[in-house]
Amino acid sequence: MGSARVFPAWHTNVTHTCVTPCVRRVLGQSGPFPGEAFRPARPHAPMLHASSSPVAVASAPALQTPLSVRSSAAVGVERCAMQNVKKSFGTTAILKGIDFDVREGEFAVLVGPSGCGKSTTLRAIAGLESIDDGSVRIGGRDVTLLPPQERDIAMVFQSYALYPHLTVRGNLAFGLRMRKTPEREIAARVQEVSQMLGLDPYLERKPKALSGGQRQRVAMGRALTRRAQAYLYDEPLSNLDAALRSSVRLEIRKLHDRIGATSIYVTHDQVEAMTLADRLWVFNAGRVEQSGPPSEVYDHPRSLFVARFVGSPAMNLVTGRVRRIGNESRIEAEGLSVPAPSGLPEGQEVVVGLRPHDLHPCGASERALGTLHFDAFERLGGELLAHGWARASGANMVIRLEGDAMRKAVVGDAMEVAIDPERLHFFDAASGLRLESK
Ligand SMILES: Nc1ncnc2c1ncn2[C@@H]1O[C@H](COP(=O)(O)OP(=O)(O)O)[C@@H](O)[C@H]1O
Ligand SMILES: [Mg+2]
Repeated sequence: MGSARVFPAWHTNVTHTCVTPCVRRVLGQSGPFPGEAFRPARPHAPMLHASSSPVAVASAPALQTPLSVRSSAAVGVERCAMQNVKKSFGTTAILKGIDFDVREGEFAVLVGPSGCGKSTTLRAIAGLESIDDGSVRIGGRDVTLLPPQERDIAMVFQSYALYPHLTVRGNLAFGLRMRKTPEREIAARVQEVSQMLGLDPYLERKPKALSGGQRQRVAMGRALTRRAQAYLYDEPLSNLDAALRSSVRLEIRKLHDRIGATSIYVTHDQVEAMTLADRLWVFNAGRVEQSGPPSEVYDHPRSLFVARFVGSPAMNLVTGRVRRIGNESRIEAEGLSVPAPSGLPEGQEVVVGLRPHDLHPCGASERALGTLHFDAFERLGGELLAHGWARASGANMVIRLEGDAMRKAVVGDAMEVAIDPERLHFFDAASGLRLESK
């Protein structure tokens, strides 16, 4: 364990529910930083850094890395990283050694159930939370001991924390004004961001005259008027209704791509995580359980925790033991029979994972895993989630049906089901860790 970090007294005195001095620092009251001026525009990014900002464009530094860098981010320059970060509140360990590295241009998502330490991690990056051990790097600098205003990040909070007495324009300009940015530049930046976020019609309104979605966009805009090494988002969509959530989610991603930002986004919603991330970090009780591109985490969950958490509807999990049947090794699990991965000893207890989207009605040339008896349906229009069981005492199972199978399915029916053996997942029942064929 390293020595405790020493932070100024104001440092720990932050909540998410109001604009405190610390939050204000993150929102905009920071001192000068490298890349202070606007970045030059990409040819296809006309709305940001437009010609309406002569001052900024004139002083823009040369680009070190093309802004078009995107999903290739995992191989780009490190922009923000944590190494073995530990944090306790009182005697309770909350972060138990967090490691991650976010690359320039990358959209990183920290995802996990409520209470697993996501916000604490984000706040530790921002400098709003001190850490007990480990280090934080931003833009290649060790910022572990630096206060928020010297870390060069911008943050969007779950509660929008807008200034109620200021108009949208005033809110967007606030951070820049606090940093004594010239008025002409403020006007240009506000105009750009407002246009980008579709806020032009509301610039003279106060927050109370805005819808939830509009307020949320103002909160984003306020962060985006800053040029920062990284933009941090703490569950920014949780106050929006479902339809708005998915459209604003898309906007956030488009915006990220358009301005070539580096984003670190926290959510408990795995759908949000899967759809937004270039890479995601799955948190479990203060640890990173798995990280990687969403498709990799989805296809190869490293543990039962990740298998349960990632994917909607959740992976079906059935438990059984490896048995030798003739010259085959199979796992008989709660009414289903699947080929065992090679190298497992007879009798080993294994949890078998089958995604609802991988199961299908058994074709003529296939071998059935078993028969599902349906007891409830969720009709989603283009597809049907059929719930049932393979053995009355067994786990509840879900299979996704489409086309003819969906149209013909009736509650109370039984259906033989199959799966591509490559799509099966196996976990050691004792440790919960993924098993691969040897
Ligand atoms: N200031 C604090 N004092 C004591 N416990 C805290 C404080 N902040 C967070 N916690 C606890 O730390 C854990 C992780 O919190 P948080 O990082 O907010 O989780 P998440 O954002 O993943 O939901 C929770 O159990 C929470 O109660
Ligand atoms: Mg949180």
